[in-house]
Amino acid sequence: MTKSQTSYGDAGFSQFIRMAFSRHLGHDREDYEKPVIGICNTFSEINRCHSHVKPMVEAIKRGVILEGGTPLEFPTISVGEMFTSPTTMLYRNLVAMDTEEMITAQPIDGTVMIGGCDKMAPAQLMGAASADKPAILFTGGPMNNGEYKGKTLGACSDCRFFWQEYKAGTVDEEELNAINERLAPTAGHCMVMGSASTIAACAEAMGMMLPGGAATPATENERLRLAQETGRAIVRLVKAGIRPSDIMTRESFDNAIKILMAVGGSTNAVIHLIAIARRLGIDLSLNDFEKHSRTTPFLANMRPAGKYQMQDLYYAGGISAVLKELSPLLHMEELTVTGKTLRENLADVQMDQEYRDIIRPLEKPLHKEGGIAVLKGNLAPDGAIIKPKAATKDLLQHKGKAVVFTSLKDMKERLNDPDLDVTPDSVLVLQNAGPVGAPGMPEAGMIPIPEKLLKQGVRDMVRLSDCRMSGTAFGTVLLHVAPEAAIGGPIGLIQDGDWIELDVESRKLELLVSEEELELRRTNWKPPHFDDYTRGYPILYRQHVLQADKGCDFDFLLPKADQEKDRKETVAASGATT
Ligand code: FES
Repeated sequence: MTKSQTSYGDAGFSQFIRMAFSRHLGHDREDYEKPVIGICNTFSEINRCHSHVKPMVEAIKRGVILEGGTPLEFPTISVGEMFTSPTTMLYRNLVAMDTEEMITAQPIDGTVMIGGCDKMAPAQLMGAASADKPAILFTGGPMNNGEYKGKTLGACSDCRFFWQEYKAGTVDEEELNAINERLAPTAGHCMVMGSASTIAACAEAMGMMLPGGAATPATENERLRLAQETGRAIVRLVKAGIRPSDIMTRESFDNAIKILMAVGGSTNAVIHLIAIARRLGIDLSLNDFEKHSRTTPFLANMRPAGKYQMQDLYYAGGISAVLKELSPLLHMEELTVTGKTLRENLADVQMDQEYRDIIRPLEKPLHKEGGIAVLKGNLAPDGAIIKPKAATKDLLQHKGKAVVFTSLKDMKERLNDPDLDVTPDSVLVLQNAGPVGAPGMPEAGMIPIPEKLLKQGVRDMVRLSDCRMSGTAFGTVLLHVAPEAAIGGPIGLIQDGDWIELDVESRKLELLVSEEELELRRTNWKPPHFDDYTRGYPILYRQHVLQADKGCDFDFLLPKADQEKDRKETVAASGATT
């Protein structure tokens, strides 16, 4: 009754009126003397990856009550990937703000946040980090595997694969529709190691989710047990006074990056982990990802870089089993939401030998290095990202002539023009699709192969952009090029016919144009004129979003000391807006 009071200028009256307005739930004053647990329920029928969470919310509430707390459910914004225009990434920071402000403003002692779909869990972890009240992440869990004619299907790697084959003419419309029915067969989030599964894995590795939370499928009874246990755990966390800043330490972010590398996770996790860390004043950078990429073996044979899906990983022991295998490389004394260390959580985890094709031993990994590489060069002074194991090996060292699209609109209009001067060796370049340019850095980085090449049998080419791609996507795709074109980054200076050189092994990405010519282009460069948004949140977004290597958070959401530092480093986007 005394926490986060509504301001009437009279504290006694604030309590009196609050009690009166609490009675509709049948609560009494003593219910509020127990730990009050907010359940941040992001149920939505439009965000289909969260449409099944109601029974889980009830189970969390039961857990809270069994442990002696009082649960109070509240909503925040909920955004789902395929149902949000132009891209959920535009709204990740809005969800983070909503989450932080509601945790802070409401009279709750701790929170369980229901995440799941790609941007929700990272946004919630960003919000929880800034609010710094005890918090646990719980997701609705991954979907079960799909199946078509004896072949396992996965959303949404196979959505992309079969669409490409349809465009190439090898799959007809009837078969495409039959496959469509089987791509997302149950409730839950995407079941390959896409962004949702990756962020859940990172949250479990960081200690912000109970062991088992990432891989347990949405449909398993075990997920309801985990929900109830999460309810119990948050009450214990409140009583112990353990906050997100006690759990999400520099070392626990190292653990998260290592699991990202070991499972060949989504490139989107790079942006999200940097954003979450910076909320806590931890200066995580692309150098950390590159360092751990070189030294962390790739252990989990997961699609899109490998063979299996989350349901298979669950049977193999889930993320706990991967962490156990990786444990010689991890910081094992880090605190987690169980109130115990990672070492204590993993003490009884046994790896079943039958599942060794899914989780490889540390000494016999699938690949010696991790699943994400960071490239730099005159084309990407602040970095670019690639998933080498989801790429074509022969293209990882490549020199090709640029075919440039100056915007998403330009790409849509000209990509399939029969007269487009493009060969399988070309490098497809997409400009002005970054955080400021698009805005919101959509998942358009897996630029479609031009149809005339698809029909010749081409299935992969080097593609390069300042936007992102889905964690479920694949190909030789260079992403997150920073700084982006819309604020004057070198990617915006590329012209048709320029030679581009890529060498993943030496982490090099170069535009083979003389410095004099580049300087001339720089002098003549003009910021793009945007007329797509003239009011509201997208304007705020363009004015304050940071670049990909800084996590795409808003500058004003960083801790105060970091705001000034970043402001100086970031080119103000305001000059490029309407
Ligand atoms: Fe929600 Fe893939 S669409 S996780």
